[in-house]
Amino acid sequence: MRTTISVIKCDVGSLAGHHIVPKPILEMAEKRLKEAKEQGIINSYFVFNAGDDLELLMVHTRGENNEEVHGLAWEIFQKTAEKAKNLKLYGAGQDLLKTAFSGNIRGMGPGTAEMEIEERPSEPIVVFAADKTSGGAFNFPLFKIFADPFNTAGLIIDPSMAGGFKFEVLDVKENKKAVFKCPEEMYELIALIGSVDRYTISHVWRKRDDLLCAVTSTSRLSLIAGKYVGKDDPVAIVRAQHGLPALGEVLMPFLHSFFVEGWMRGSHWGPIMPVSLKDSKCTIFDGPPRIVAIGFQVVNGEIASDDDGKPLISDLFDDPAFDLARREAIEHAAIMRRMGEFEPARLSSEIMEYTTLPRILERFKDRFIPV
Ligand code: 13P
Ligand code: 13P
Ligand code: MG
Ligand code: MG
Repeated sequence: MRTTISVIKCDVGSLAGHHIVPKPILEMAEKRLKEAKEQGIINSYFVFNAGDDLELLMVHTRGENNEEVHGLAWEIFQKTAEKAKNLKLYGAGQDLLKTAFSGNIRGMGPGTAEMEIEERPSEPIVVFAADKTSGGAFNFPLFKIFADPFNTAGLIIDPSMAGGFKFEVLDVKENKKAVFKCPEEMYELIALIGSVDRYTISHVWRKRDDLLCAVTSTSRLSLIAGKYVGKDDPVAIVRAQHGLPALGEVLMPFLHSFFVEGWMRGSHWGPIMPVSLKDSKCTIFDGPPRIVAIGFQVVNGEIASDDDGKPLISDLFDDPAFDLARREAIEHAAIMRRMGEFEPARLSSEIMEYTTLPRILERFKDRFIPV
C-alpha cells in the first residue's frame, strides 16, 4: 500500500491586512475536509495557518496530482475566498490566479507539496509552512538537514545514511531541473542553491536506494501572473528517523534565524522566525517572515490519531529551545529595517522587476539623458 501526504495551501484572504487566516475560514475548511473524510476522498486531515496562508494537510491513498484531492482543495479555496469576499477580508482570493479547474491545482496559484511513499515500520513526518517568503527559503535548511555533517550527526555516525543524499534543483526562471549528489557535488550544489530566487530544492532522496525524503512547493506566483501578487509562502514535507535525519536534526537549522526573501510587499530580505501555531501571524513590517512546523506519524494511510479520531499533531516550534532564534530574528529585523529601502535590506533590482516599483520608475524614464 502506498500513502500520499498532500499539503495544499492558498492565501484566500486575511484579517486586518496580510496577517492571519481568521477562524471562520479555518472552520469552513475543516468542515469540508471532515465531509471529504466521511466520503472517503481522504483518510486524515489537519487544517492550520501560516500567517495569512490557509494550509490543508491531507493524507490519503490516491497518489500525487490526484484530481479528486486537488479538486477538493480547489473547491475549499473557492468557497473560503467567497466567504472572505463577503467579510471584505484583505486580499480575498489573492492566490486564486485562474478560474476554471481542469484536474490539477498546480500552476493555478495555490502551493502544493506532495509525496507518495511506502510506509516504513514507523513513519515520522515534519511539515513546515512559512509566510512572507518564497520557495528558495527551504534551500538553506534542507541543505543543512541532508548534507551538512555539522547539522546532522547521522551523516557521520549512522551506517544507513552512508553515501548521502541527492537533491533535485529547479531553475524557476528557465523551468528546468537537475539532480546533484552530496557529498561529491556539494560545492556545485551550493553554487546553485545559494541563489535562492532562481534555484529551489524541490526533492531530496537518499542516494543509496532513492528513498524519497523531502519535497517542497516550488511555485512562483509572479511567474504565473507576470507581476507581483504576493509571495509564494512555501511548504515542505520531510520524513525523519530510521536511516534519515532524526527529528532533532530536521529541526536543528532553526536553532538560529537566517535571512530569506519576502517580508513587506515581498520585496525585502528578512530574518526567519520559527514560531508556534498560536504565534503564526505576521505583524511587524508584515513579519518577520515566520515558519511553523508540525510533527506527526503516518500509519496505514492515515495520520496516527487518538481514540476519538483526532490526529496527533505536535506543534514543534512551541518550545523554548527556539527562543534564541526568535530573539535573533527580532534583533536582525531591527538591524535590517534601519536600512529602509537601501540594499541589501531591499531585494535586488532584478527581483524588484516583478513588483510595483517599475511603475514608479517608468514615470521618470524620459528625465534621463545620455552622458
Ligand atoms: P532513541 O534512542 O531515543 O530512539 O534516539 C535515537 C536517535 O536517533 C536520537 O537522535
Ligand atoms: P502575502 O504574500 O503573505 O499575502 O503578503 C503580501 C504582502 O505584500 C506582505 O506585505
Ligand atoms: Mg496575503
Ligand atoms: Mg502569505
